[in-house]
Amino acid sequence: MTEKRELRVEKIRDGTVIDHITAGTALAVLRILGITGREGHIVSVLMNVPSRKLGRKDIVKIEGRELSPGEVDRIALVAPKATINIIRNFEVARKEPVKPPTTIIDVLKCQNVACITNSREPVKPIFKVEGEGENIALRCYYCGALMSREEILKQF
Ligand code: CTP
Ligand code: ZN
Repeated sequence: MTEKRELRVEKIRDGTVIDHITAGTALAVLRILGITGREGHIVSVLMNVPSRKLGRKDIVKIEGRELSPGEVDRIALVAPKATINIIRNFEVARKEPVKPPTTIIDVLKCQNVACITNSREPVKPIFKVEGEGENIALRCYYCGALMSREEILKQF
C-alpha cells in the first residue's frame, strides 16, 4: 500500500470505526448513537471525503465504545453501505457491513396523519423495509404509506 501524503485522522486504539457512511449523513449517525460530545468519548467525524467505492463518504470513529445491534440496525437505514469496524489494540478485529433489518418496530413515526399509529390507539408503528441500498424505503404495516431514506433521515 502506498503511503498517503497526509493522514486525515489518526488510527484509533480501541473502539469502533463506522466507514462508508453515505456522504452527508454522519451527523444523523451521531444522533442515532446519542453522541453529543458530552459523554467524554474521543470522536472523529469526517464528512465528504473521497472514496474509491462511493465517490464521497463520511466516517465516524469512536474511541472506547462499541455499538448495540439496535444501533447498527438504525444506522443501516440512513447509511445502507456503512461498514462497522471493531478496533482492538489498533487492529481491525471485526469488519461487518450493516444489513437493514426486515422490520422496524417503534422507532420511526408514520407520516400519514390518518394512520392508526398516529391516533390515540396504543398501536406501535411498524414498518417493513423495501428497496435496496440508497433506495431503501419503509412501508407502514398499517396504512401502506411509503417513507424514503430522505424522510427517514429527518426523523433522526
Ligand atoms: N482504522 C482506524 N484505526 C485503526 C484501524 C483502522 O481508524 N486502528 C480505520 C481505517 O482508517 C479505515 C477503517 O478503520 O477507515 C477500516 O480499516 P481497514 O480495514 O484497515 O481499511 P480498508 O481496508 O480501507 O477498509 P475497507 O476494505 O472496508 O474499505
Ligand atoms: Zn401508517
